[in-house]
Amino acid sequence: MKRFQVITLFPEMFTGVFGSSMMWKAQKDGIVTLETIDLREFGLGPRKQVDDTPYGGGDGMLLMIEPLWKAVMQAKANDPSAKVLLMTPRGERWRQALAQQHSESDSGYIFICGRYEGYDERILELVDEEVSVGDYVLTGGELPAMTIVDSIVRLLPGVLGGAASAEIESFSDGETLEFPQYTRPEEFQGLKVPEVLLSGHHGEIAKWRHEQSIKAGDEKYRQN
Ligand code: ADE
Repeated sequence: MKRFQVITLFPEMFTGVFGSSMMWKAQKDGIVTLETIDLREFGLGPRKQVDDTPYGGGDGMLLMIEPLWKAVMQAKANDPSAKVLLMTPRGERWRQALAQQHSESDSGYIFICGRYEGYDERILELVDEEVSVGDYVLTGGELPAMTIVDSIVRLLPGVLGGAASAEIESFSDGETLEFPQYTRPEEFQGLKVPEVLLSGHHGEIAKWRHEQSIKAGDEKYRQN
C-alpha cells in the first residue's frame, strides 16, 4: 500500500480533498493511506513556535529548521524508504509524465508544505525533489500537495473506474488533449451534439476524436 504523509501547519485543509471522491475510495479500497502530520506539534516552547525572522533581515517569517526537521524525521521513521518532496515555486514544474513515473514507483511520499515567506534552506538536506505546480506563487504548499497527490493516486491500479480511461485521457502521451464529449440531450438551447457522434459509425467517430485531440493539443501548445 502506497503511503502519503503531508507535513503541514493546516491539516484541516486536507479533510475535504482526502475525504471525498476518488481519494476517499482509494483509501477505502486499501490502495493508499493519506495522512497529515501537524507541523505545530513539533513547534518549540510553550507557544509551539514554528517560524522566526530571517537572518540578514528581510520581510516576513520563515519556517524554522528544527520543527520541520523533526516532522520529516518522524515521517521517515514511519516509512524509511519514502521520497521527500518539497512544495516550492522554485521546483521542477509538475506534469503528467512525472505523475505517471511516481505512480509506478514502489516508494511512499512525504510532502513538505511551506508557509509564510519560506523555510530555512537547511531543510534541503532531507529533500529528494523540489516540486512546483506552476509559475505563480501561492500562500503555501497545501494546494500543490493536494494536486500532486491526486495526480499520482488516480493513476494507481484500481483507483479509476475503467482501465481505458487512463490511456485515452488528456496528456497521456504528453502531447494531445482529450477530445470533446457530450451526453443527453442531443440539443440544448439550440446547441447540438456533433452529427458524427450520433452516426453510429465507429471508424468515423474514432477519426473525428483523434483529429479533435490533436487540435486541442495544438491550441494548448500555442498558449505556452
Ligand atoms: N508554494 C507556493 N507556490 C507554489 C507553487 N507554485 N508550487 C509549489 N509550491 C508552492
